[in-house]
Amino acid sequence: MGHQVLFDSELTDSQFLSLKVLIHQKFGISLSESKRLLLTNRLRKMVTGLGLTSFEELCQKIRQNASAELLSELVNHVSTNHTYFFREPAHFEFLMRVAMPEWIGKLLQKNDLDLRFWSAGCSSGEEAWCIAMAQNEYLKQVPNQFRAGVLATDLSSKVLELASNAVYPKESIRDLPAKWKDTYLEMLNSGEFRVREFLRREVVFRRFNLMNSQFPFKKAFHVIFCRNVMIYFDAETKRELVKKFLDNLEVGGYLIIGHSESLDRQDCLQYVCPSVYKKVGA
Ligand SMILES: C[S@@+](CC[C@H](N)C(=O)[O-])C[C@H]1O[C@@H](n2cnc3c(N)ncnc32)[C@H](O)[C@@H]1O
Repeated sequence: MGHQVLFDSELTDSQFLSLKVLIHQKFGISLSESKRLLLTNRLRKMVTGLGLTSFEELCQKIRQNASAELLSELVNHVSTNHTYFFREPAHFEFLMRVAMPEWIGKLLQKNDLDLRFWSAGCSSGEEAWCIAMAQNEYLKQVPNQFRAGVLATDLSSKVLELASNAVYPKESIRDLPAKWKDTYLEMLNSGEFRVREFLRREVVFRRFNLMNSQFPFKKAFHVIFCRNVMIYFDAETKRELVKKFLDNLEVGGYLIIGHSESLDRQDCLQYVCPSVYKKVGA
């Protein structure tokens, strides 16, 4: 008979508190009391997945050795990764109507053909593919050969694996314009859709924790997307992160967040339209 684990206990107050502190410290994610049930249910899966039998055993294991692997497993269970193609389409329109023409114009003047976009908190990749599609659509009409592409990062190795695989169910592409579907996706025998090879070459996926104090990028970005990620962070964590984004954004570059989010006033950060901000010179 297989190993059967049955446990229906709840997280105790002290277990919840210690996990909450650890998750906030390592990943910036704030868990309020209202998230307790969600955390309990998600961690139950982690406990059984690791062959353990109680939350206490899990907490002990973390206390003894919070290895990168164990923390990565923890965050895979804790983070909310929901996303889909063409979410908040106004942003892709903004790219094609405003950000791309502006940057292409400026770069051409300097004879620079390097366009750098970042999808920070990309989850399973849908956002990054849509950014690459929008880039591609705009660049079709530009005679010069730009080196475009997208760096896409996330904390969770599980979603990054899905992103690199680039295969998605039909529901995920429901909102994508038909023309983009035909151009950039192919249907597989399974009925799922795969991003076409030429576009797959345009996006690089990497694991990266936005809580890292140093961002390792050699050159600043022209556009940074960080949508529906900071909703899980408290105000201070968010402010610190926006500061790091600004340090890694070109003057004139755009920071795009989710429609349900907003940013506090900050030096060098100019509000453009809902959920879109521009870095201005000091
Ligand atoms: C809800 S998804 C957003 C996906 C996409 N940007 C969108 O708007 O549809 C949030 C993602 O943020 C990632 N995330 C949360 N905290 C993070 C951190 N500290 N560093 C990097 N990624 C993080 C999660 O793993 C998750 O995949």
